[in-house]
Amino acid sequence: MSETEVPRVSDRWKVAKEYAADVQGLIASPFADLPEAASLFLSLPENAGGSWLHALRQVIAVTPALGLTDPSIALAFTCSGLRQMGMDEAALGSFSREFREGMHQIDRSRRLGDDDKTTSIPGGPVWGGNTFDPYGKQATKTPVTVHAVLLLYAKDISSLNGLIAKAEHALSEAGVIVSHRVDIQVTEREHFGFADGVSQPILYGPAIVSGPGTESKWHRIPAGEVIIGQTNAHGDLAAGPIVAEVPEKPTMLGVGNAPPGYRDLGRNGSYLVIRELQQDVAGFWNHMDTEAAALGGGLTGEWLAERVVGRKIDGTGLLPETVLHPDSSVARTVNEFGYFNEDKDGLSCPLGSHVRRSNPRDGLARTQDEAHALVHSVNSHRILRCGRKFGPPPADPRQQDGVARGLLFMCLNTDIARQFEFVQETWLLNPGFATQADEVDPLMGPKGRMSIPACPFRHRPKIETFVKFAGGEYFFLPSLSAIDYLATL
Ligand code: HEM
Repeated sequence: MSETEVPRVSDRWKVAKEYAADVQGLIASPFADLPEAASLFLSLPENAGGSWLHALRQVIAVTPALGLTDPSIALAFTCSGLRQMGMDEAALGSFSREFREGMHQIDRSRRLGDDDKTTSIPGGPVWGGNTFDPYGKQATKTPVTVHAVLLLYAKDISSLNGLIAKAEHALSEAGVIVSHRVDIQVTEREHFGFADGVSQPILYGPAIVSGPGTESKWHRIPAGEVIIGQTNAHGDLAAGPIVAEVPEKPTMLGVGNAPPGYRDLGRNGSYLVIRELQQDVAGFWNHMDTEAAALGGGLTGEWLAERVVGRKIDGTGLLPETVLHPDSSVARTVNEFGYFNEDKDGLSCPLGSHVRRSNPRDGLARTQDEAHALVHSVNSHRILRCGRKFGPPPADPRQQDGVARGLLFMCLNTDIARQFEFVQETWLLNPGFATQADEVDPLMGPKGRMSIPACPFRHRPKIETFVKFAGGEYFFLPSLSAIDYLATL
């Protein structure tokens, strides 16, 4: 291990030593070695200030990116939460517009497809930040208002329960209510049964120590796509919030990238997107079986489901073996491939499948030259996923059991509009994506059709709505020094 390296938090890249004590551990690792976890969504009392953070920190500490620790903890805030804590409007105004407006603001809701009531749970989403829109636009009000989220990760259920009890006790003493709770487990296989977390971006830059496999042509993105203050895909320093310097109140925040008279609140932080997505597992598999049978030719539900996702159930890509493993003597990952040269027409991996929409790689190019340029451009719309599944696995994936289960989708990015919202609006839910006509992501979107290119005729099975939105919000995931600052509010 070299001088600048810190103990293992990720196989591919680590946060460099000089940043690791300030960056939250969740940025460097989804804590996959800690399988049991809970997300506690918090509602703060009026004029909460920052004192509740003192009370919380007496019993638990937010985990830095210094290496794996059991348990591990992450903490993030909604815009309404920071307002409730007493942050002034000038400081709130320095956060990104998406964060200030919130996920349920009418325009954002439309972009995310949430204005289509068929893709939300009956009665509509249950929780959100209920943030006040500075631009006066309407927002859907959710029954539960969330001001912050506390994510707790542990090796086993008994230590997790101990941790939750400690946190809940300290929070309730400080008048903070756990208004919504989702218990989550590590997602090697999501509930439909597919391997998850296979394809992730690989960060590079001065704040990062690169490990093996970082020479990837397809997945390298500058650290500023995930860490505020670092250089992003546009060559800019990823912008974050600032606070005015108050001479009589010394602050632990550095000057960072803030202009004179201000301190950098965003540096080493990120924006965390959370969406609670319920999955209808039996509905999915029964529909896959029925539609595959209707296509004929002995096609199975598994065959169709793999085209919907765009990968095999075990996570292997759908491209021919020779593309995925061009040299069998070299251990290759299942993720080093493009679509332009290997599968331009989507005969192996359908053009409209979930993975092709969520990361088209070079597949939307018209020429070879464009293909090179497109990878760079597509990589300015990457997100670092760190979600987990909730609810018990189904005993029989084809039997309705009435139990709520799904994915607590979480991802980190520094520019919510250019990264998360772009992926969802412009790729997943775009009815004209990659020459498709009036089709959207067959895994995530409302019901419709999906084209599966084939010779001599394409297949066009019906698709139902399998995933429903139950609540969500945009959060600010501060650095550890920014949490110290927030505790002084
Ligand atoms: C219940 C909802 C969802 C399920 C079951 C699901 C499932 C999957 C699966 C099985 C994969 C392939 C394995 C992998 O690379 O990890 C995948 C990839 C991916 N998904 Fe989802 N997903 C869901 C929602 C979303 C949402 C809401 C987004 C973003 C808006 C998203 C973005 C991605 C991305 C970026 C990839 C990687 C594509 C690549 O780089 O090749 N997913 N998802």
